[in-house]
Amino acid sequence: MNQHLQNIFEILQQIENLSDEQKFSTAKSLKDADKELTILEFKLDRTEKVKRTTAILLEETIEELEQKRKAVEEINTALTKSLEELKAAQAQLIQSEKMASLGELTAGIAHEIQNPLNFVNNFSEVSSELLDEMRSELDRGDIEEAKEIATDVILNLEKILHHGKRADAIVKGMLQHSRSSSGVKEPTDINTLADEYLRLAYHGLRAKDKSFNAILKTDFDETIGMIDIIPQDIGRVILNLITNAFYAVDEKKKQTLEGFENYEPTVSVSTELVIPPPGGTRGVKISVKDNGSGIPQKVLDKIFQPFFTTKPTGQGTGLGLSLAYDIVKAHGGELKVETKENEGSIFTIIIPV
Ligand SMILES: Nc1ncnc2c1ncn2[C@@H]1O[C@H](COP(=O)(O)OP(=O)(O)OP(=O)(O)O)[C@@H](O)[C@H]1O
Ligand SMILES: [Mg+2]
Repeated sequence: MNQHLQNIFEILQQIENLSDEQKFSTAKSLKDADKELTILEFKLDRTEKVKRTTAILLEETIEELEQKRKAVEEINTALTKSLEELKAAQAQLIQSEKMASLGELTAGIAHEIQNPLNFVNNFSEVSSELLDEMRSELDRGDIEEAKEIATDVILNLEKILHHGKRADAIVKGMLQHSRSSSGVKEPTDINTLADEYLRLAYHGLRAKDKSFNAILKTDFDETIGMIDIIPQDIGRVILNLITNAFYAVDEKKKQTLEGFENYEPTVSVSTELVIPPPGGTRGVKISVKDNGSGIPQKVLDKIFQPFFTTKPTGQGTGLGLSLAYDIVKAHGGELKVETKENEGSIFTIIIPV
């Protein structure tokens, strides 16, 4: 029994005038109190032990958490690094895709420059002959005739200048295509841009493959005027769509050589100013249509994915449409496709203006 309770018990035992019953009942109460006290002491001891164990566990958990935090931090650093590497790789890919398409364009560009160059050469030759004639007329004293010849020479020089400028514009366009995007929107004549890329792509393909042939159709909305776009970027989108269309009609032609001799590979490019109902945004629609074989559903689901291509290895990067999609999106626009198996496809870009 607890020492204090023992003392109380002994004192009570010595009190004379307590009845036996009272002594018994006090003794019982004291014993009960002692039992409860023992239990409480036991519980206290247990709580103390639990407290100590919990503290140890807590310490361990904190340590573990700290280790986990460090691991997460390391993973984060590694992730940031690979993200940076990925971005660098992507930028490099975009640049090489651009250079590859420039390579495809080179033949077209050469063809396009050849025309104005022929004019310049011919008109220079003719002008030189005219000046010889003029000298003879002056020697003979026929001033009137000499003046007429001078007028012809002036007209020729104007033509030379015109064609020289055309060649200049083609070279500038080529340089612009190879340069990284300025990222700056400029007022652009979308019809001229589309027409130029259509011709460059066509002559580029023809130069590489003499058997390639297609009917080109254009339908340009002359009311569009100048629109604010990043010309290099939208130019690349149009070029990619046109190149895909040419590829599609050429494939169909190769597949249907027998039995479909009357197949006419046709690629159409059109533009249209979209005037929406009140409240909607005005836009410009650029469509590239082909009468190729169309795109089967299981291919269609993937065409905008980077690196997806059905071209033989080494022929396509599969980046064309994925880049086109990103560029159009960056202009706040939409790139859509409609296709019908065996009939062809229409790719449509809508850019808000
Ligand atoms: N006009 C089209 N007709 C039929 N299939 C098309 C057409 N345009 C795209 N595709 C399909 O979409 C795929 C992806 O096109 P994308 O332009 O992204 O890459 P690619 O043309 O294969 O390669 P790259 O553009 O690098 O030359 C093509 O391989 C083709 O299967
Ligand atoms: Mg392509």
